[in-house]
Amino acid sequence: MSAIMQGMHTDIGLVNTIVARSALSFIDGEKGVLEYVGYDIDDLARHSTFEETTFLLWNLRLPSRSELADFTAQIRRNYELSEGMWDLIVSLPRDASPMHALRTLTSALSLHDPAADDPSEEANARKSISMLAKMPAFIAGFDRHRKGLDLVRPDEQYSIAENFLYMLTGEKPTERMARAMDICLILHADHGFNASTFASLVTISTLSDMYSAVTTAIGTLKGPLHGGANQGVMLMLNDIDGIENVEQYVMSKLANKERIMGFGHRVYKSYDPRATYLKTFAQGIAEDTGNLELFNLSHEIEAIMDREVGSRGIYPNVDFYSATTYYSLGIDLDLFTPLFAMSRVSGWTAHCLEYLQDNRLIRPRCDYIGPHKQPYSQLSERV
Ligand code: ACO
Repeated sequence: MSAIMQGMHTDIGLVNTIVARSALSFIDGEKGVLEYVGYDIDDLARHSTFEETTFLLWNLRLPSRSELADFTAQIRRNYELSEGMWDLIVSLPRDASPMHALRTLTSALSLHDPAADDPSEEANARKSISMLAKMPAFIAGFDRHRKGLDLVRPDEQYSIAENFLYMLTGEKPTERMARAMDICLILHADHGFNASTFASLVTISTLSDMYSAVTTAIGTLKGPLHGGANQGVMLMLNDIDGIENVEQYVMSKLANKERIMGFGHRVYKSYDPRATYLKTFAQGIAEDTGNLELFNLSHEIEAIMDREVGSRGIYPNVDFYSATTYYSLGIDLDLFTPLFAMSRVSGWTAHCLEYLQDNRLIRPRCDYIGPHKQPYSQLSERV
């Protein structure tokens, strides 16, 4: 029998529990609003860069021109990996999942940092920059390694988005491709206390280190109910053989109580503002790259979902149209979730730095429903 302690309530999935205060991102799930430090996501996607957005999240204000130049230079100086890290990349099994590789490489970064356990604010900021700057090399490096290609070293003349595409393909990306990648990084940078951010906070609240917090977050992001959904969307699009089969596919999934990946959200009960922006954007990129058929397929799924479950507040989320965008950019589908991590590391670290300002161990209770006063019998007496 459940025995909830006085003054406590059970909230499975923490649906109705506020666990801390934060000045980083504001979400109005009813109106479909997302702001980073008060700036509308649409303005940031249109006018900002991932580097500037990260500065905003880490400092709670936009940088001046010289501050942004210094910050960008600092990130670029951190692009290069130690020889030990390059060696580790090429020692990983080629058939490993890129998310497992990314989690392992991020964790391994701590082994090459003599100050990995330094808890000072300055050391935590340094580690945050290092992880943000190096993740693109981890993802692109592992992808080239598994394909048997020579690894491409980072180039400090490039932004984070350009550098990633350059290391992935070995070629300087076009301006349009680099901007598309940059916008995806901005849109995924932060989102309140989502599951992976919360997981990172649980780790940092024990006064563990930043590498451990981000490693925890990557493991949490990987799940198909969270960041793993963008890969799930692409698998679904590949699974549906032509636009004429969409109706039957979606209806049979819904009838079997299965989930359509890229739809629904714990907080948004109206259109996810990131999806609004990405939808138009995905269409443009799909047109440019000859992937309009794929976009039309996505649009058809959305129309049927809107008709069937729109009234229940189930709309496309950020993962739905980011999948089409990444695919149009020629990125392998199992890199979609690592790309999410490459962006969200700015939010994870921002929240950890913020939480540490007034840290309190996160330690919820469970509602024990098991037996009591069981008589212990010796092993020899048990059958
Ligand atoms: N397809 C079909 N039905 C859905 C979907 C969906 N994508 N999402 C929710 N529902 C239905 C559920 O079946 C449930 O129906 P029921 O009440 O008849 O049982 C109802 O809506 C409520 O669903 P819950 O899982 O209770 O809602 P919750 O807030 O816990 O879940 C979640 C949110 C996990 C994101 C859910 O919408 C989902 O599984 N979506 C698909 C995976 C996905 O796209 N995840 C990415 C989220 S965004 C992000 O992490 C970046």
